[in-house]
Amino acid sequence: MKGVVLAGGTGSRLFPLTKITNKHLLPIYDKPMIYYPIRTLVDAGIKDILIVTGGKNAGDFLRLLANGKEFGLSHLDYTYQEGEGGIADALDLAEHFADGSRICVILGDNIIEAGIRDAVDAFRRQERGARILLKEVEDAERFGVAEISGDHIVGIEEKPRRPKSNLAVTGIYMYDETVFEKIKRLVPSNRGELEITDVNNAYIADGTMTFSYLKGWWTDAGTFDSLLRAGNLVSQSAAKRERDLAAVAKGEAHGV
Ligand code: DAU
Repeated sequence: MKGVVLAGGTGSRLFPLTKITNKHLLPIYDKPMIYYPIRTLVDAGIKDILIVTGGKNAGDFLRLLANGKEFGLSHLDYTYQEGEGGIADALDLAEHFADGSRICVILGDNIIEAGIRDAVDAFRRQERGARILLKEVEDAERFGVAEISGDHIVGIEEKPRRPKSNLAVTGIYMYDETVFEKIKRLVPSNRGELEITDVNNAYIADGTMTFSYLKGWWTDAGTFDSLLRAGNLVSQSAAKRERDLAAVAKGEAHGV
């Protein structure tokens, strides 16, 4: 399976932080935002990765990431989204790269605590279709929200005023090769974008959408509050890891 990180868009909700740089180059605790989604894919065993970026700072991604050596990669692919046509518009640019393979797509501002390997493996075993990752949240109206009946997903609403559940659709999506035909049939939403939620609803209509629940914490980082939250969550996790390592080292020193 190949991986796609979507890091286009203008980041207008973070203005003026994004006036002179791309949102995905902003820091989340001790690393640029884009490091986290790349790490998520690599840790799930996905090594063939495309970065979709845009705006005035596209060259900075190349300078920062080069061929992905820091992630143990020998190569990274890049492409450029003109304008801000939406998540599905950015994904459409990955058709050439995907070249008929299945893809795991992650939004460049989605930061997670635990890995996604189980979900990726489940999708590898799935005959066809798509798989999304859901997470319980308190502010579902900010996201795509899933409606579940039994163990089936029956629909997704994008930023509903009255969410039908507290299950947000996280920005991690796995698709078979039919995703690009589905994108070609989309029409822009009220906000003038090609919506990833419409792509996911097309899979639901086909009866080929499945889902997993994401373990650990999850946050986006596209608003001032969520950017701050992301930094705090990452720093707390780093501190916990250090405490755990110190406890193990202490145990070993005492022969436990
Ligand atoms: O974070 C999860 C949510 O992301 C989902 O629950 C929603 O269903 C989904 O629509 C999306 O909502 P947002 O409104 O938060 O998406 P946003 O416009 O902030 O874009 C998220 C990322 O997608 C952004 O960091 C980069 C990429 N993107 C976005 C747009 C609009 C692009 O690459 N190109 C674009 O044109």
